[in-house]
Amino acid sequence: MSAEERVQALHLLLHEHAHRYYVLDAPSIPDAEYDRLFQELLALEAAHPELRTTDSPTQRVGGKPLPFFSQVRHAVPMLSIRTETDTESTGAEAFDARVRRELGFSDTDPQVEYLAELKFDGLAINLRYEHGVLVQATTRGDGETGEDVTQNLRTLGQVPLRATPSAYVLPDVLEVRGEVYMRRDDFESLNERQRQHADKTFVNPRNAAAGAVRQLDPTIAAQRPLSFFAYGLGEVRYADPATLSPLTQHDWLRALASWGFPVCTHHLVASGASGLVHFHQHIAALRDQLPYDIDGVVYKVNRLDLQRQLGFVTREPRWAVAHKYPAQEQLTQVLGIEVQVGRTGKLTPVAKLAPVFVGGVTVTNATLHNELEAHRKDVRVGDTVIVRRAGDVIPEVVSVLAEQRPPQATTFAMPACCPVCGSAAVREEGEADHRCTGGLFCSAQRKQAVLHFAQRRALDIEGLGDKLVDQLVDAGLVHTLPDLYRLGLTALAQLDRMADKSALNVLQALEQSKHTTLPRFLFGLGIRHVGEATAKDLAQHFGTLDAIMSATAEQLLEVNDVGPVVAHSLRTFFDQPHNCEVVAQLRACGLTWPEGPALAAQSLPLKGKTFVLTGTFPTLSRDEAKALLEAAGAKVAGSVSTKTHWVVAGSEAGSKLDKALALGIEVLDEQGMLNLLASLK
Ligand code: IVH
Repeated sequence: MSAEERVQALHLLLHEHAHRYYVLDAPSIPDAEYDRLFQELLALEAAHPELRTTDSPTQRVGGKPLPFFSQVRHAVPMLSIRTETDTESTGAEAFDARVRRELGFSDTDPQVEYLAELKFDGLAINLRYEHGVLVQATTRGDGETGEDVTQNLRTLGQVPLRATPSAYVLPDVLEVRGEVYMRRDDFESLNERQRQHADKTFVNPRNAAAGAVRQLDPTIAAQRPLSFFAYGLGEVRYADPATLSPLTQHDWLRALASWGFPVCTHHLVASGASGLVHFHQHIAALRDQLPYDIDGVVYKVNRLDLQRQLGFVTREPRWAVAHKYPAQEQLTQVLGIEVQVGRTGKLTPVAKLAPVFVGGVTVTNATLHNELEAHRKDVRVGDTVIVRRAGDVIPEVVSVLAEQRPPQATTFAMPACCPVCGSAAVREEGEADHRCTGGLFCSAQRKQAVLHFAQRRALDIEGLGDKLVDQLVDAGLVHTLPDLYRLGLTALAQLDRMADKSALNVLQALEQSKHTTLPRFLFGLGIRHVGEATAKDLAQHFGTLDAIMSATAEQLLEVNDVGPVVAHSLRTFFDQPHNCEVVAQLRACGLTWPEGPALAAQSLPLKGKTFVLTGTFPTLSRDEAKALLEAAGAKVAGSVSTKTHWVVAGSEAGSKLDKALALGIEVLDEQGMLNLLASLK
């Protein structure tokens, strides 16, 4: 292929991918791959300048706006920024050297001062304030013209609708530029919600944010958890042109923060290239712990007069540069799909990948969550996929490059049996997950169950980690939890990497764990939906393990925060003879805990009665009211149903009160509740 033909091919590819990325919010290749193609085109154009045409993807900033939003011409163009992909020192040094040369500095001139910032991975937005009031929000679009997304941006809590006056004089016209992004935890819960509703999940936080901003229905945009950081300015006009305005980028950030704009605190005034290198390294180490994605850092000449002096080359300022980090998304091949078994028997399909360096580590596994997700993404063995790893989130297959699929690739099917123990695998109605029904007979579940039992918040058996548990279960030494307490020194010491000393330590830790508490023991059993808090509530309510084990579902429902799902799960667990046998044997091994008086056994006056609290009370806090009712034996529930006996309503009570009235449930105010409690004494 000639250079000319390759350039043509790259134009087509890059136009297509830029359109998918900017306009459709549905990229089909990772950014790193796009960058690679873009770099290839840049290199070809550098070698053959005659092939660089005005319609080349290298000659414009982004995609054309969607036709649906009205288009707005930017008062000041929204520029792009030059990207360095060099190593940390050469990137910063090359930038510093260029700046010094263009400013006409010699070696004897002082260091240039920079402001180093994070490069947020979201989408750029221009917010226009007139006389302190937000009047318009626009996307970058092609840099000259953007889309009017004011309605959507107004729904963002972090975007001030009105700038707060401060010691800095507020300009009459103030355009604040910054990045709309989605935090990783918000992104995870949004996708979890989408999954539960069998809706399409988002590829990454940036695309979820972009999709929300360009959502035509602002009520949907309002439900998407978006965040914003301000980092720059568009048009700025003061009522009095003689007003002293900030003189540096750093001072502008301070002014923006003082007016109520969210400004990221991770920035640094750096002297010369060495300060920039330091910032780059510091942030690289911090990157995984940040609650949002960044794709690099940005260096800006701090003084605005120097920025003006440096000016622009085509669409990029000479005074700023972006320095990228390794990509968090990469292409790789699916070598196989395995099914892993969790503690509660959940079967998770996991893609085995050709090793790929992504997000700073080598990744060989990526979760596919469940069968539904695997099918929705249609991941097949042999496929080329995009994997993503950001922060400490488990690596995930984002999507498949369908056009690169080998002809013989077969779809994934969840096995009918557990791959570890062979028990039936079932999917309950309304649930996305398949589960192994083998319970503690399944060695994979047993390993997880032992680890759960031994963890700090449960029986706290020090030294019983996953390597040891693997060996104990695989060697057949531990079948059920009580087997732990039957381990002898000889058997333990024979295991891999187990000296007499460490074997003794494990035995000692086991011995110590025998004196425990009822909540820890109950939590340690690993009953589905019974977390630490529920275990505490159960122990407090029933007082003894026997009372819990023999409680009916109705009795269990009387416990605070125990709903039908938890009650059902407890009953199912204790209805299985082998689970009761495990409990009996653990007790026989010497496990003990103090047992208290059953709260339920005392005949409290409001036992069996359910209350719902709503609104604000004149004297009591919500927690105080709850505590008073619970002390009288009542259950305080979160929502009104036909099972509710009383609703206690304060001021600004909303839908719960409406529902109570509709169902004919007796409503009390605070005084009415206090009178009721007093009458019981
Ligand atoms: S300054 C004239 N600062 O990176 C300089 N941009 O091409 C204009 N970005 O999509 C950009 N973090 O949205 C600047 N701290 C930061 C940034 C940042 C992220 C994005 C920006 C634009 C791209 C620049």
